[in-house]
Order: sequence, then structure tokens, then C-alpha cells
Amino acid sequence: MGYNVAIDGPAGAGKSTIAKLLAKEKGYIYVDTGALYRGLAIHFLDKGIRAEDTKAVIEAVKDADVKIKYEDGIQQIYLNGKNITGRLRSEEVGNMASATAKIPEVRAKLLMLQKNLAKEQDVVMDGRDIGTCVLPDADVKIFLTASVRTRAMRRYEELAAKGESCSLETIEKDITERDEQDMTRKTAPLKKAEDAHLVDSSDMTIEEVVKAIADLCKG
Ligand code: DC
Repeated sequence: MGYNVAIDGPAGAGKSTIAKLLAKEKGYIYVDTGALYRGLAIHFLDKGIRAEDTKAVIEAVKDADVKIKYEDGIQQIYLNGKNITGRLRSEEVGNMASATAKIPEVRAKLLMLQKNLAKEQDVVMDGRDIGTCVLPDADVKIFLTASVRTRAMRRYEELAAKGESCSLETIEKDITERDEQDMTRKTAPLKKAEDAHLVDSSDMTIEEVVKAIADLCKG
């Protein structure tokens, strides 16, 4: 049985940044589960399916084969044999992932894959339902959050650094909508597991957050 650290929280809380650094420090494998939902989202988008067309999504899930591989220690996502890692991070894909992640068949498709990854190896896995559904027996559970304003500012700065312009108001609106969608869905909604440690990163540096979590993990 691997040593399992589960980090859940809303979009933009810094889960992936923190999880990656923690993985490096502790020698764990980092599993970004949002990338799996994004992989399926690309499958739906490529087929021209709309998120509202639940029937078509459920049908399309059947012929999607999503695989996670590690190349030079970096996670790669394969969809039906093709590496689609470079396409995962767009807003379009993120919105489609959030909209379709509420469909039970979509979640079921990815559940065993995630569980199996954590079975044999030491992992830090981030997502929305890791501590509540995927790894309910995780050794350490973290619910990482930050205010909407802080998360929007971080995203704004990330986009600005890439030379993309977007208004802060639009980003805030997007984040609020995404939170609402992720927290109110019936299947595996985003919520803090009872035994998760709450970490609010609004006024913490990245180093402080990593240290706070690392201190909760074994040796
Ligand atoms: O973490 P992310 O932004 O890459 O995730 C994209 C969407 O995938 C997110 O809005 C909700 C969904 N997701 C999920 O439902 N459960 C997870 N464990 C991870 C992501």
C-alpha cells in the first residue's frame, strides 16, 4: 500500500503548484486528476458534443481510453493512444471538464484508474473528491482554499505572464461559476472531508503552504 496524500480544493487555490513541490520534496508521485477530466473533455469537444447533451456524453465516454503516463517524471495524458497533454490547460477545456464532471458515468470511468495509481506507489493526488471518494483512507487529507479575489488575481497574473489579456472581473465570474458547479453537483461534489486539514492560502506564501502540509506527512 502506498503512502497517500489527498489535496482537494476549488480551482485556483494552488493545488497543483503545492502538490508538485510537495511531491518533489517527499519523493512522491504527483497525480493531477483534473487532467483526466480535461482529457475526457477534449474527447467530447473533438466529437462536437455539447456539455448539456448528457446522453451524447455518456455514449462518448464508452470509446474514450484515457491513460496517465510519466515521462521524465512529468505527467502525460493519453487519449486513445495520442498524447494530448499540450491541449489540457485552455479555458474551453476546463469549462467542459467542469460541466461534464457532474455526470456519474464520467466519474465512474476515472475512479478505478485513480484508485489504482495510489495503490502501489506513494502519491500526492489533487482534485475535488480525492479525500471524500477516491482515497477515503488517505494518510493525509488537505482541503486547500483561498478567497475568490486571491484566486482570480493569481490566474490574472498567470495569464498576463503568458501575454494573454483578460479582465479580472471576468476571471472572478468564471471562478465563482466553476465553484458553484463543482460544489453543488450531486455526484462527488467538492467538499472538505471531515478529517481533512483546512489550509487557507490567501495570506500564505507557496513555501509556507508546502511546509505546513509537509509537516503533516511522514518523515
Ligand atoms: O483541477 P482542474 O481545474 O484541472 O479540474 C478541471 C475540472 O475537472 C474541475 O472544474 C472539476 C473536475 N474535477 C473533478 O470533478 N474531480 C476531480 N478530482 C478533479 C477535477
